[in-house]
Amino acid sequence: MSALVIQNEVLDLDGDMDAMHPPTETADAPDGGHQGDGNGPDTLADANKQHFTDIAETYGELPSAKKLAKYLAVAMRKLYAFDKNSTSVLDFGCGPGKPDSILVFDAARWNSCMDGCTGLVSSELAADTKKVVGVDISEGMVEQYNKRMQKLGVPPEEMHALCLELKGEPGELDGAKFDIVVCSMAYHHIDDIAATTRLLVGFLKPGGHLIICDMTRGEEGREIVPEPFHEIVSHEYGFSEADIRANFEGAGLKYFGFQLLVKARVHGLTVDLFVGRGVKPTE
Ligand SMILES: C[S@@+](CC[C@H](N)C(=O)[O-])C[C@H]1O[C@@H](n2cnc3c(N)ncnc32)[C@H](O)[C@@H]1O
Repeated sequence: MSALVIQNEVLDLDGDMDAMHPPTETADAPDGGHQGDGNGPDTLADANKQHFTDIAETYGELPSAKKLAKYLAVAMRKLYAFDKNSTSVLDFGCGPGKPDSILVFDAARWNSCMDGCTGLVSSELAADTKKVVGVDISEGMVEQYNKRMQKLGVPPEEMHALCLELKGEPGELDGAKFDIVVCSMAYHHIDDIAATTRLLVGFLKPGGHLIICDMTRGEEGREIVPEPFHEIVSHEYGFSEADIRANFEGAGLKYFGFQLLVKARVHGLTVDLFVGRGVKPTE
């Protein structure tokens, strides 16, 4: 696998795990209930809503999450020629509006307003985007996202998030189509990624790019995400290149690309985080 951005660093996701405590510690069920057993949330989506709302305030400040967002934005800039006057982005599973959205929007605003993020973005990375729409099923994440944008002085018509569980039904997001749909570290939280990929492709314009970032399945096939997190994770082994290719091609995407973005320490394992890219045909 070739490196799109950086190979020498290992992001310390483990160092941030205190904030990513297992969902059972905070879910309704004090004894650590599981989906559908009458104590905890009924579905994976419900468990994710609950967990990510619980950690929404701290998540956006995690150093490893900020770094990953920075590298992903660099990768996106390499994959797509952004245009301030026209490029539109759908950030699916957007979380609290960290730089994966904001970097492609306006680095100057980000650097001037966000403590601790100054210098995160070089002007080289300051891509221009006309509009970014974030979508997340967690109310807490969406609230954080929109608060950040308000603090940054970004008008909602340029950048805002919506709390939705997209179903792929006609009229969702007012029928909007985007140049880029990006999904960072949310695929492993979703059961049916084939259906989700088709759904996301439905929001692309012809020629638009779907860009997914997530954990690569190790050759030895070891479980990356341990039991306490299974309530919110469906793909605890990560994804192989073949998994992502099959999903992208099954959804009609072309020009498949799959590259290493950066390594990360996750639950004691060193894991490759990948960027997968597919393009919607123009005809
Ligand atoms: C690990 S966080 C990643 C957030 C952000 N994209 C990032 O890169 O840091 C996963 C996000 O996916 C969201 N999520 C989980 N399942 C989802 C679904 N079915 N639809 C939309 N968002 C979902 C969660 O609420 C959470 O904000």
